Amino acid sequence: MTIDATARAHPNMALVKYWGKRDEQIMLPSTGSLSMTLDEFPTTTTVQLREDHGPDVLELNGAVAQGEPLRRVTRFLDLVRERAGSEARAVVRSRNEVPTGAGLASSASGFAALATAASAVYELPQDTRSLSRLARRGSGSACRSIIDRMAVWHAGEDDATSFAEQIEAPELAMVVVVVDAGGKKVSSREAMRLTAATSPFAAAWRASTARTLEEMLAACREGDVERIGELAETNALRMHAVIQSTVPSVRYLRGASVGVFDAIEQLRADGLQAWGTADAGPNVVAITRPADAAAVADALAGHGEVRVVRPGPGARLVDERVAPV
Ligand code: DP6
Repeated sequence: MTIDATARAHPNMALVKYWGKRDEQIMLPSTGSLSMTLDEFPTTTTVQLREDHGPDVLELNGAVAQGEPLRRVTRFLDLVRERAGSEARAVVRSRNEVPTGAGLASSASGFAALATAASAVYELPQDTRSLSRLARRGSGSACRSIIDRMAVWHAGEDDATSFAEQIEAPELAMVVVVVDAGGKKVSSREAMRLTAATSPFAAAWRASTARTLEEMLAACREGDVERIGELAETNALRMHAVIQSTVPSVRYLRGASVGVFDAIEQLRADGLQAWGTADAGPNVVAITRPADAAAVADALAGHGEVRVVRPGPGARLVDERVAPV
């Protein structure tokens, strides 16, 4: 029997956002979403079964983690154990290669890597669909980081039908602009709850996102980069609008973030094609064509640290192990 396995996964950036759950228990989203898996900032995770009867242990970036991160990993492993009919506890060692304060969410890459490594050690099904369904239970957006390059997450009706799969799309590049490296005050999970509970616009957001997803899928099939960019920017700004409309209001974009959206609009007026998006934080990502990425990065460099990223691989097992602390 295998007693340890290591997997690597990358973050993904949504072009059609996931913002809201239909069922928080089994993590069904209110709508489908679509994203690009990045080729940078991987998380590498080793899961090692414990031979003694000690509790689950989490080592994160070289330090023992307690509190909520450990509870989330234990809850996830409980689900894995239930499915595997196993009682074995595990040591989970995880390392994020996000440059300090890049502000990119690591929960998607984290749970994609954990689902992949845990499925190997606990001998659960390891086909892409099973891994995507399992990763979803840890963090919704993690189901998309299982997938190579571009992924659509089908909202689905139940656990079996809510998973991500690869789609064909034209070659894209993204320029990550780190305007603020600080952590966020309200987690996505919490802010999603607040949106459902307090925003008068929540239903309109769901309806418009479902329509945008259909249009985005068509634009990807047709290879229409301009349409992809326009749809992605509108969808991101609508997500931030619905988030701001909560009580109390949550505002992830800062003045500097709005400055980047303005700069991107100016680039377009000057003839360079780029469109903005942002997740639940202040950093802005410009979507562009690979041939324009260097020029867009140069133009936005005054707004923060910039990094060009491209489509990357889905989660996979690797040979190396994350070293113990
Ligand atoms: C703004 O997947 O982190 O990045 O499912 O509660 O763990 P949970 O939330 P999470 O939310 C991601 C929100 C987003 C949009 C997106 O990635 O689609």
